[in-house]
Amino acid sequence: MTEMRDVLNARRVVSGYLPETPMWSYPVLNQLAGAEVYVKHENVQPTGAFKVRGGLALLAGMPERDRGVVAYSTGNHAQSIAYAARLFGVPCSIVMPENPNPAKVAAVEALGARVVVAGATMVEAAGHARDLADAEGRRLVSPGDEPEIIAGVGTLYLEVLTRQPDLDAIVVPIGSGTGAAAAGLVARSLAPHCQIIGVQSAQAPAAHDSWRLGELVHRPMKTTIDGLATGSAFAVPQRHMRETLTDFLLLDDTDIRAAQRLLATHAHTLTEGAGAAPLAALLAHPATFANRKIAIICTGGNAGPAEIAQLSA
Ligand SMILES: Cc1ncc(COP(=O)(O)O)c(C=O)c1O
Repeated sequence: MTEMRDVLNARRVVSGYLPETPMWSYPVLNQLAGAEVYVKHENVQPTGAFKVRGGLALLAGMPERDRGVVAYSTGNHAQSIAYAARLFGVPCSIVMPENPNPAKVAAVEALGARVVVAGATMVEAAGHARDLADAEGRRLVSPGDEPEIIAGVGTLYLEVLTRQPDLDAIVVPIGSGTGAAAAGLVARSLAPHCQIIGVQSAQAPAAHDSWRLGELVHRPMKTTIDGLATGSAFAVPQRHMRETLTDFLLLDDTDIRAAQRLLATHAHTLTEGAGAAPLAALLAHPATFANRKIAIICTGGNAGPAEIAQLSA
């Protein structure tokens, strides 16, 4: 299990490459939510998402990195690994399931990684990635079951809780669960009173159902929200979440899309769907959040062309 000292070590690496991201409160969002809301802007990372912290922490300390890495991802984990691989001169291949977001493919290729499109689902893409890693003798990087990624992502929550130590809750969008796992372990050390609340699309509830049931399950994946499109739960983040997550909410994709428009209008912020899910949770569950001090993590801004088109709908 990742521990607080691992997050502190990761901060030494991550802070050498990435400045702290801003966190702002916007009056109209506060009014709409009936709460004091802080938006943590991870969408302004150089890769457009918080995941880059995890890739940097993982590759910085990976002893066998020169033989190369293979990752499988819908996009942001891919960009994170490709970004860190370029920085450390590590050969990198990324397997993406069919019909990937073209903006994310372009971004990964521009970082110098090879993109292999294979598999109808993420589970199939994972199989292709495993085969590729075996054939090329490279290290396979899981999107979820990597303790060093959780440590790297934890640096985000050090920033949040150092700036606002008296938060009542942090709302975190969940795909594999690395972000929520990291939030929980940092909050347990720095702000034990602060609740960590996860959100996921009701159209892809594998992580949610696994957390509620206490066992790893597969679920159909019908969401259009890239970062939350996970059909199977991951063991390592689930172990953390079982200890530290206060609650786990499911949201409809249409509510997440509406929150994306609100962030564009009232926080002048381009988010992808996953990055807007925490705001959608505040608006869909007013009784849980009203009159409290809440941080919502705008985890990413890599909206594809269809997402950008619907912002003015
Ligand atoms: C923008 C964005 N937000 C949230 C998530 C979910 O994060 P995690 O997989 O750590 O649960 C992802 C995952 O790729 C993402 O890309």
